[in-house]
Amino acid sequence: MKRFLPMVVFAGLGLTACTSAEKRESPWVAPDTATLSFSDTLVRYGRNLIAHTARYLGPDGQVMQITNGMNCQNCHLQAGTQPFGNNFSAVSATYPRFRERSGSWESIEKRVNDCLQRSLGGSPIDSLSTEMRALVAYFCWLGKNVPTKTRPVGSGLHPLAYLKRAADTVKGQKQYVVKCSSCHQMNGQGVRHPAKAEFIYPPLWGDSSFTTAAGLYRISNFARYIYANMPQGTTYQKPQLSTEEAWDIAAYVLSKPRRNRNFPGDWPAISTKPIDHPFGPYADPFSENQHKFGPFPPIEAFYRELPAK
Ligand code: HEC
Ligand code: HEC
Repeated sequence: MKRFLPMVVFAGLGLTACTSAEKRESPWVAPDTATLSFSDTLVRYGRNLIAHTARYLGPDGQVMQITNGMNCQNCHLQAGTQPFGNNFSAVSATYPRFRERSGSWESIEKRVNDCLQRSLGGSPIDSLSTEMRALVAYFCWLGKNVPTKTRPVGSGLHPLAYLKRAADTVKGQKQYVVKCSSCHQMNGQGVRHPAKAEFIYPPLWGDSSFTTAAGLYRISNFARYIYANMPQGTTYQKPQLSTEEAWDIAAYVLSKPRRNRNFPGDWPAISTKPIDHPFGPYADPFSENQHKFGPFPPIEAFYRELPAK
């Protein structure tokens, strides 16, 4: 029923409102791997690199030993195809693009190397390596039906409202024990596969987890990721965490130690830093702690009320 309502409302204006209703309701669907032909070996290799990164590039990797042992798929679920599971639907359609973090135009290759260095604590790989060509081939295949410059519905992470208060690590710890520790363990180190090079349950903090320079180290990204995807098997249609739980658990996990990586060139224009970027300097008077855990509405208001340049 809900679907037809906008059509009725807007019919007199001659707008095809059902398009936006459709858009809201049906996220992007990845092309079917069954349509890959026998000769699409690069695309297949790219997909394997996403799903089983550690087998190829991890501490015991077959090709190189350059990462912390996580798989790209640990954060880009179902080989980067899951709606609001940080999927790759927008990559081929939106890169190269300008990014404020580097203050420059970034290619897909640069973006891949960003996650390799920041999320996988590794070193960059050569643009001409088979591995990089395979990853790019996979992104292009995934996004082949996405029109240029569009971000399909369901790309990236699910929206989540800010709390009025700061996120609470003490509440978060209690919920972590109940809802997360069975897989990620009380010590947050996850569980390694006894025979394969990869994790069964990836680590949430410590030396083998993502570094302080990773996108997931921003509390909003972490909270949005777990809200729509954790505990394992959760989908955005049926979240198992409340908004408060997502923020509080995120605060607890991000208060734990992890490898530090610092890229001094990040955010050359400091006024463009996301408000939850946990490292100063800032173009506002709020503390690093408030930028890390909130409350965020006052920071948001500060930037909203700045006179336009
Ligand atoms: C610890 C979690 C994590 C891991 C592991 C990870 N990523 Fe990411 N990746 C993210 C997050 C979070 C974002 C979005 C960050 C943002 O926009 O601030 C992202 C963004 C990206 C994007 C850009 C997507 C877009 O639509 O703009 C690409 C491409 C990417 N990652 C590739 C990779 C590859 C390849 C690997 C493995 C080598 C990898 N990532 C591993 C967390 C991760
Ligand atoms: C039933 C087991 C299970 C439970 C419970 C669970 N997770 Fe996960 N989690 C996983 C698995 C498995 C992955 C990797 C997914 C993949 O590779 O397909 C993952 C991935 C993650 C990641 C991204 C990778 C990383 O290591 O940073 C985060 C963050 C995360 N989980 C947080 C949580 C939080 C917070 C909770 C509690 C609300 C939770 N998970 C509950 C199994 C679980």
